[in-house]
Amino acid sequence: MAPAESPQPARPCRLVVLVSGSGTNLQALLDAIAADPGFGASIVAVGADRDGIAGLERAERAGLPTFVCRVKDHEDRAAWDLALAEAVTGYQPDLVVSAGFMKILGKEFLTRFGGRVINTHPALLPSFPGTHGVRDALAYGAKVTGCTVHFVDDGVDTGPIIAQSVVEVRNEDDENALHERIKEVERRLLVEVVGRLARDGYRIEGRKVIVP
Ligand code: GAR
Repeated sequence: MAPAESPQPARPCRLVVLVSGSGTNLQALLDAIAADPGFGASIVAVGADRDGIAGLERAERAGLPTFVCRVKDHEDRAAWDLALAEAVTGYQPDLVVSAGFMKILGKEFLTRFGGRVINTHPALLPSFPGTHGVRDALAYGAKVTGCTVHFVDDGVDTGPIIAQSVVEVRNEDDENALHERIKEVERRLLVEVVGRLARDGYRIEGRKVIVP
């Protein structure tokens, strides 16, 4: 990824949040922004790759614009990626937050927003990337796992790491119980990271993310 530097924001950092499911990470951001006028960011739109999800309902309850961009409505992945990039561009975000968005962002999207897209993943990257980070850590027998907030590059969960939190794996854990404990920590981490990036700016130097 090319070195990237964020502008020092004079106004609240504009966020577009992308979701695919329950949207509890989105809710944590909404709550943090509502609770703190100095948070430094505002969510300007929420996008999804499917209809009928709780994440979109949360956005609607908060009075935010929403949009849905479904792969099956497009000729191929590239056309979907372009349509998603167009939809997001319309909201002129400073940062795009992939918060449980279960699609790989493509070339066009990353050309427009590279260095400005963050993702939250329920494992300690580079271990257990992909769709089943929690299940894979459990199956491997890892004693600790956790969550990672990172910038998105053109790989699968391979971009520069911003922050991580550790969660202990318990003997009695199943995937659901472990994921719920990870998500408690993950929501706090995502809120902290987004707030810091928005207020303090950041630099990406190779694989290193520097937040002053
Ligand atoms: C989160 O745990 C997030 O890390 C995970 O989906 C969950 C979404 O929860 N994302 C991935 O697994 C992406 N590979 P939420 O919809 O309640 O915010």
